[in-house]
Amino acid sequence: MLMRTKSSGTDAKTGGIALQNLQKTYGGVAAVDDVSLSVSPGEFISLLGPSGSGKTTTLMMIAGFELPDSGRVLLDEKDITRLPPHRRELGVIFQNYALFPHMTVAENVAYPLRMRRVAKAQVEERVRRVLDQVHLGALASRRPHQMSGGQQQRVAIARALVFDPPVLLLDEPLGALDKKLREHLRGEIKTLHREVGKTMVYVTHDQDEALAMSDRVAVMHEGRIRQVSAPQDLYRRPADLFVAGFVGEVNLVPVKLTSGSAYGPAGEKLPAATWPDADRDATLCVRPEHLHLDTSVAAASHGIQGRIVGRTFVGDATIFEFRSNSGLQLTSKVLNISAESLPDTGVSCAASWAATDATILTE
Ligand SMILES: Nc1ncnc2c1ncn2[C@@H]1O[C@H](COP(=O)(O)OP(=O)(O)O)[C@@H](O)[C@H]1O
Ligand SMILES: [Mg+2]
Repeated sequence: MLMRTKSSGTDAKTGGIALQNLQKTYGGVAAVDDVSLSVSPGEFISLLGPSGSGKTTTLMMIAGFELPDSGRVLLDEKDITRLPPHRRELGVIFQNYALFPHMTVAENVAYPLRMRRVAKAQVEERVRRVLDQVHLGALASRRPHQMSGGQQQRVAIARALVFDPPVLLLDEPLGALDKKLREHLRGEIKTLHREVGKTMVYVTHDQDEALAMSDRVAVMHEGRIRQVSAPQDLYRRPADLFVAGFVGEVNLVPVKLTSGSAYGPAGEKLPAATWPDADRDATLCVRPEHLHLDTSVAAASHGIQGRIVGRTFVGDATIFEFRSNSGLQLTSKVLNISAESLPDTGVSCAASWAATDATILTE
């Protein structure tokens, strides 16, 4: 088998992936349903979705561990749909590390090179370099059980990088670690991505992780991709109700659209950007941080009238539950920036938001 001889993985021209109408059914249920996706060379893309949404199955079809019922997988425009995993030359990193317990760190990392019959001197050089890249140079002679979960996961990443694949596939690689360590390693993987310039396809059910790390995020639900967008667009302009509810917190208000305005369940006019005239039912989405509660006297004359029915301190912010006089239940999030005392439960107030912060969804 040919080794990729380029010493640097920063060649931005390789590592492009195209998924075309991938279909995979288990026992009559579609695990992956007509998934199409293009990933540019060097891009960091996440597959984000709840458990069972088809993320792992999609990744395993890219890796070659699962065969699609129909559809194609292309790597740099070459059809690899039926190529066995070891001939795809893709780096795969699983949640459970899958290290060899009886081998040292260096031996674990060297394994893919030995399988490829790379010369000994070259193996040593490459193992040393890749261990330095993941900050494990000093621990080369340890065994997996002598290391923390975070260190073991770095070994798994080094082992996937060592044969210089154009693409790394990562399936919930931080899922087994605690929150602080996850956030730390998130940053390290991002830095590594910048340094090695490889295409990364990253599976996670953690929206924070996906938003923080990715160039683009593909949101999956019930085997389908619902939206593919840059993190900011995903959050600010969700394409449908599932995405709006899955990525971040959101207030969903059933509305009627009439002559360019949106009316709530009790007929109250709600702030929203204008759209073509068409009478129909829809849902208005507004993020809690965009919903303002005004308790001043002046508030009695504008906004949606109601009162605060709940208040929760969560450290960096306070979450208010608001109920309008018409029965609308809304959540507002206020950052705890000042030490000023915040309004209490029972206080009358008016809720409002900028029309441009509301998204109207019709599906
Ligand atoms: N080998 C399998 N046999 C039967 N059903 C499977 C198999 N692998 C996955 N599934 C089913 O396919 C769906 C998608 O699974 P998966 O891709 O693992 O989701 P995710 O990674 O998003 O949690 C789930 O309903 C799961 O139960
Ligand atoms: Mg999975």
